[in-house]
Amino acid sequence: MREFVAVLDFGSQYAQLISRRIRECGVYCEILPHDIACADLKALMPKAIVLSGGPSSVLEDDHPGIDPYILAQGIPILGICYGLQLMAVKLGGDMARGTSREYGPATISVDRHTDLFSGLEDSLHVWMSHGDHVSRPPEGFTVLAHTNSCAIAAMGNERRGLYGVQFHPEVVHTPKGMDMLRNFLFGIAGCTGGWTMKGFIEESIRDIRAQVGDKRVICGMSGGVDSAVVAALLNKAIGNQMTAIFVDNGVLRGGEASEISHTFTETYPLNLDIVDASDLFLDALQGVTEPEEKRKVIGRTFIEVFYGEADRIGGAEFLAQGTLYPDVIESRSAKGGPSATIKSHHNVGGLPKDLKFTLIEPLKELFKDEVRLLGRELGMPESIINRQPFPGPGLAVRILGEVTRDNVAILQEADSRVQEELRKYEGYDDIWQAFAVLLPVKSVGVMGDERTYANVIAVRAVSSMDGMTADWVKLPYDLLARISTRIINEVKGVNRVVYDISSKPPSTIEWE
Ligand code: XMP
Repeated sequence: MREFVAVLDFGSQYAQLISRRIRECGVYCEILPHDIACADLKALMPKAIVLSGGPSSVLEDDHPGIDPYILAQGIPILGICYGLQLMAVKLGGDMARGTSREYGPATISVDRHTDLFSGLEDSLHVWMSHGDHVSRPPEGFTVLAHTNSCAIAAMGNERRGLYGVQFHPEVVHTPKGMDMLRNFLFGIAGCTGGWTMKGFIEESIRDIRAQVGDKRVICGMSGGVDSAVVAALLNKAIGNQMTAIFVDNGVLRGGEASEISHTFTETYPLNLDIVDASDLFLDALQGVTEPEEKRKVIGRTFIEVFYGEADRIGGAEFLAQGTLYPDVIESRSAKGGPSATIKSHHNVGGLPKDLKFTLIEPLKELFKDEVRLLGRELGMPESIINRQPFPGPGLAVRILGEVTRDNVAILQEADSRVQEELRKYEGYDDIWQAFAVLLPVKSVGVMGDERTYANVIAVRAVSSMDGMTADWVKLPYDLLARISTRIINEVKGVNRVVYDISSKPPSTIEWE
């Protein structure tokens, strides 16, 4: 039986990231609902359990709970943030409501260097995010670490294998977080590791073949790495039973369709079908300005095109798409989960309830960097694997306000200047995503002796591990100056360029 760790979900953004880090340690894990019954959980025989963080407060009524028997099974448990607080109240500790919310970097002082903090320094940088705090640990628990403003930053009961941390070891802003997770998994819970991408491919191929049988699959390819990897995986699993469909939706980056066509007919051949549906999309987007509505219109139109193509190839029962973990997380609360809806990503939020296809989403438990590892394992060219992510709704979510043909043309031109200049920059590989955004405002400028009243372009470049958190890139001024000059001089209709200096959170990467 495969070694398995359960992450109980108290707010999906947190749970998915934790699970991603655990798998990075080579330990397979799955996310389960927080209210799973103890007997059901025990039947899965988890080697360890992690209680995720979450946006709720244990001091409020109706907070998400846990079957108390889970805490008494002798299975090692790590509670993170909300998970720690829940464990504390369930086991008889005390909580206090915070007067202010501590959010951001903090330094903890380690009081005990055993267990979770084994081999780590006395003083560690961590990422805190909490309002309430544990004021008295439950009986049998020792304080393992504190900060100046939080007396119980970590606690543990060695005998029962129960541990909790008030900060987030899973985020990159806690540099030694992975060491703590490894201490928990391998030191405390006795995991052995060994889960790999090769194993994931073998499992996925088996699952896809079993699900599909001799039926046909169409795979919506967006030009981004995710859907390309799905197509490659299906190609390996079922060959020409899959048709990859690349739709020109009229909101692609300039030159995108020909690049995709070249790659997947010459470099990495697949059963590829390119459909020009730009008029259909742009007509459907007419007059739509609300971001969620835009995503939904685009999602619906994609499905319309897929129905047409499925008929054209003689019927397909399945639709495969490159849905990833973050897509699922950020769309999940629409279905009543514990986290807040942020955006309806097109490949999740825009699907009709009566979809005629059965979905195949082999990447929906993976994060972006895991998808890249998978692509490499499948022998895909680096030019595809290292492509920056590109959202399914394309430039439509980078044109704030109405998407018109003129606006698309302006943004394509501006974006190509950003891409050209950045490709020459030595730090290009460290950038997660860089792009131009067309703002729905006009500003006054002067060109020659003429007054202008024209569009504003925002340039965004972010670094990120997985798209869940991101920071703006400190691009050199001379590079920013070149980008700005080129856009203003070469793109008709733009007289001002600004640089976006917001991190995620609290902003998101895309502007819509
Ligand atoms: P946000 O804007 O939510 O973006 O911080 C996180 C990452 O997801 C990409 N993104 C999408 N990808 N369909 C996709 O396939 C979508 O609807 C979508 N919206 C955002 C975004 O480009 C970034 O990499």
